[in-house]
Amino acid sequence: MSAMREENASIIEAMDVEDEHTIGSRTYYSGKLLGKSVVVVFSHWGKVAASITATTLINCFDVKEIIFTGVAGAIDSRLRVGDIVVGTDLYQHDMDASPIIPRHEIPLLGRAAIATGESIRSKLAKAAGDFVSEDFSQHVSLDVVKAFKLEAAAVHQSAIASGDQFVSVSALAEEIGKRLPGVACVEMEGAAVAQVCESFNIPFGVIRTISDGADESSEIDFQSFISEVARVYSLGIVKRYLMQ
Ligand code: ADE
Repeated sequence: MSAMREENASIIEAMDVEDEHTIGSRTYYSGKLLGKSVVVVFSHWGKVAASITATTLINCFDVKEIIFTGVAGAIDSRLRVGDIVVGTDLYQHDMDASPIIPRHEIPLLGRAAIATGESIRSKLAKAAGDFVSEDFSQHVSLDVVKAFKLEAAAVHQSAIASGDQFVSVSALAEEIGKRLPGVACVEMEGAAVAQVCESFNIPFGVIRTISDGADESSEIDFQSFISEVARVYSLGIVKRYLMQ
């Protein structure tokens, strides 16, 4: 699954598509990528959109695991554009049923965070590391590397927070970081996929490339990153993941 058409398109282009089904306004492409059976879909944006898509993948396509690839805004100021974050725990930074239950706690679940599958997480971290060290320079032109200062892309494993909000105000990014210490970045879907997968007992992983600093320049950084870089990362990492 991914929340950007551009990322999705590059994966669909690389696979042998055997079937396509449109359900609930999304097209699910089934087929093979590097000989492995996959279903690829553009989730649309936000937690509800991601929940619809993940639920359909599980109930209509009987998938055995779900990987979400995409971009994110940095909350941890040590992260740089082009760095990759493999999610360890997913939080909903906009979940707030207080004072009935503590802020961020998911109603009836009794906790705020949902952990990604351990084996998927370590495979994703290896895939991202291999992509950065082995494949990266073949897929990203020197001009793009220079423009986005991608020379030293690092792979991190950290918590990720999702919410129905594109974070473009640094004060909000800081506040989220204080409310949810340990969260490296923000996006809009991962925690929804986590909650669906938890409900259906399906292992899942979330991997995000930092496209912006979740601050006042995030809109400009985000748009150019998507068109120039994101598609290369997603396909490269997914391929490395399937090769293991
Ligand atoms: N995805 C990429 N950048 C983001 C941001 N700044 N806020 C939310 N989702 C994002």
